[in-house]
Amino acid sequence: MLNKKTIEDIDVQNKRVLVRCDFNVPLNEAGEITDDKRIRESLPTIKYLLSKGAKVILCSHMGRPKGEFNMKYSLAPVAKRLSELLGFEVKLAKDVIGPSAKELAASCESGKAVLIENVRFHKEEEKNDPAFAKELASLAEVYVNDAFGTSHRAHASTAGVADYLPAVCGYLIQKEIDVMGKALADPKRPFVAILGGAKVSDKIGVIVNLIGKVDTLIIGGAMAYTFAKAQGGKTGISRVEEDKVDLARDILAKAKAAGVKLLLPVDTACAKEFDANAEITVCEENNIADDLMGLDIGPKTVDLFCEAIKNAGTVVWNGPMGVFEFPRFAVGTKAVAKAVAESDAISIIGGGDSAAAVEQLGYADKMTHISTGGGASLEFLEGKELPGIMALNDK
Ligand code: 3PG
Repeated sequence: MLNKKTIEDIDVQNKRVLVRCDFNVPLNEAGEITDDKRIRESLPTIKYLLSKGAKVILCSHMGRPKGEFNMKYSLAPVAKRLSELLGFEVKLAKDVIGPSAKELAASCESGKAVLIENVRFHKEEEKNDPAFAKELASLAEVYVNDAFGTSHRAHASTAGVADYLPAVCGYLIQKEIDVMGKALADPKRPFVAILGGAKVSDKIGVIVNLIGKVDTLIIGGAMAYTFAKAQGGKTGISRVEEDKVDLARDILAKAKAAGVKLLLPVDTACAKEFDANAEITVCEENNIADDLMGLDIGPKTVDLFCEAIKNAGTVVWNGPMGVFEFPRFAVGTKAVAKAVAESDAISIIGGGDSAAAVEQLGYADKMTHISTGGGASLEFLEGKELPGIMALNDK
């Protein structure tokens, strides 16, 4: 369990509290938020602080503006959404540590919240520059980190600022670490991990860490073709990471030695080209024809994977089973999402693509936990320490 001080361990009444959230939400072409989950998930902490009479100064990054003021990455849509959700106007400063932010922070009343601009408008943010962190800290008297999705970054607003203020975590970080930490440390068995996505290299750390913990490891997505190659299979023109074939072989051996049941696709939905409307040909295990590429798991694999999920006590899922943005090749991902949703297992969905798939398919309510962190949840599952959490005061 998390051994860091939380917002409940500190007096915030009438104090200016700098709260780092991850408001890095997806926007459409018109600059409108298409998924406000990260904003909604930050509300318990914000509302708690408001109810305790804190003067809440919110901050976040948005996208990757590379250290320059660029209004395409402004937090204006977030200020608007926060105002709707909190029922009062959340004013947005024009800058981050400049006169506008300082004035807004100083004039914030108890029980109210304001927002400063995108911290990544300054290149010092990602460099974790101490002078910049000190300036940020000077806006407040207490620091709360609740940006789980950015906690794997050692940046000024996620870590550096903790050197200058009493630093505690919010409810979102607490929830993420408690749920995922318990699943890793004391899982209800059988413990099944489902890993998908394009690259073995993205998931290698997670696979290695989970091999010692899970009973069954399911591998889908394009990653599976590198494993097929490692077993001497035919992969056609599928996406294969040639330089990771040896690594895949190594993983197969490690899983065997650890007594982990490793499930790989036994058939594959293939096509001649990477196209949403491409005609589907199903190829048998390790036998993809020379002119075909795998784009989804096949029907027998769907049955095999779903059967393992049905009997699980705990499921951790990260990464789609195929090209789920093409409806024809979303069959595997959808079936897995449905099986996880319908199982009695404690279900934990890593952020990023699998979280988006579960939300889009309407299964979000059926899952125990959908992480707000993409990279952060992966690093946590890899067993790495997260700098944004390490920087906080111990209990
Ligand atoms: C995310 O979306 O994963 C987080 O907000 C972190 O963003 P970053 O990868 O740009 O640091």
